Amino acid sequence: MKKELPKIKGKKVLIAGGLGFIGSNLAHECLRLGANVTIYDCLDPNSGGNLFNIDAIKNSVELVFGDILNFDLVSHHIMDKDILFNCAASTSHPFSMKEPWIDLDVNCKGVINLLEAARRFNKGIKFVHIGTSTQLGRLHFRPANETHPEFPTDIYSANKSVSEKYVLIYGNAYGMPVTVLRFSNVYGPRASIHSSDFTFNNYFVGLALQGKDITIFGKGSQKRNIVYVDDCVSALILASQSEKVNGEILFAVGDVHYSVAEIANQIVKHIGKGMVKFVNWPDERKAIEIGDAIISNAKIKDMLDWKPEGDFSDGLIKTREYFEKYLGHYVK
Ligand SMILES: NC(=O)c1ccc[n+]([C@@H]2O[C@H](COP(=O)([O-])OP(=O)(O)OC[C@H]3O[C@@H](n4cnc5c(N)ncnc54)[C@H](O)[C@@H]3O)[C@@H](O)[C@H]2O)c1
Repeated sequence: MKKELPKIKGKKVLIAGGLGFIGSNLAHECLRLGANVTIYDCLDPNSGGNLFNIDAIKNSVELVFGDILNFDLVSHHIMDKDILFNCAASTSHPFSMKEPWIDLDVNCKGVINLLEAARRFNKGIKFVHIGTSTQLGRLHFRPANETHPEFPTDIYSANKSVSEKYVLIYGNAYGMPVTVLRFSNVYGPRASIHSSDFTFNNYFVGLALQGKDITIFGKGSQKRNIVYVDDCVSALILASQSEKVNGEILFAVGDVHYSVAEIANQIVKHIGKGMVKFVNWPDERKAIEIGDAIISNAKIKDMLDWKPEGDFSDGLIKTREYFEKYLGHYVK
């Protein structure tokens, strides 16, 4: 049974990046819980935003086409809100290596803009930010937890690491209620499934839905903490309503560690008709590969009484059911 979420009925919620994968799923859930939802997103062509993600709720949310780099506009929309979920980011690891300045602008300066707008105009707003497990880079101990040092291997992860620190600094220096949730390999409906530039598991889902083969670099033996998007959404909403986690970083990651090859095989089993194939690593991907990502979710379980619901097959079946209906909106 799905965990009961805290009441956010009537709360004014701003979701930066609300046209993206995680932000749009969050928007659906916030609306279901009775919140007033504003989505702030610029539909960045290098990220996974998709207007169709909010098609079913477009008449029930306020949609602002805006860039988080536009300080005046974003300040205006932060001013009167109760909660700010920051799901806006430039989200491609390979793109960040090709265009490091763009990644720096969005993932660092953009976050400073949100924080500074909150500090100047609405210091009490609850600020929930998303970090990524790839900030850790190659692990020094396993399972890693929130005390693990960070050695990111790509520019996106480095900038995510820095911007997370900005969030914690504003919490500490100005007493603002901030929380960081770190995610890892999120999958589910509304993901960007058309390009290998984003999370590999969602790209594999896209290939499987089209009956195409899945190609794995190397042996695919590296482990990942895959997590279903609804679980991330629950974690975000729980964090937004808990004072206990102000100033905290929490890993909201799956319970089970699957290898990349196991993930591909499960996707083919539940979704696709293609085969799983293995090829040598391309140099540019090998250079930023992090190896095993085995991470503990003990802290968030303890502090927010959160746990992932259902198992991998349940999540894949729900993912298939969604994309079978709407595939044309996600794959050209
Ligand atoms: N998907 C995952 O597996 C995963 C894992 C770890 C962390 N995260 C983090 O979760 C957050 C959301 O990721 P996602 O998977 O939903 O990504 P996504 O690419 O689907 O969504 C990001 C959204 O941000 C918007 N955006 C980008 N630049 C913007 C700007 N300058 N101004 C306004 N909006 C802008 C995009 O248009 C897009 O709609 C990000 O912070 C990401 O780093 C995601």
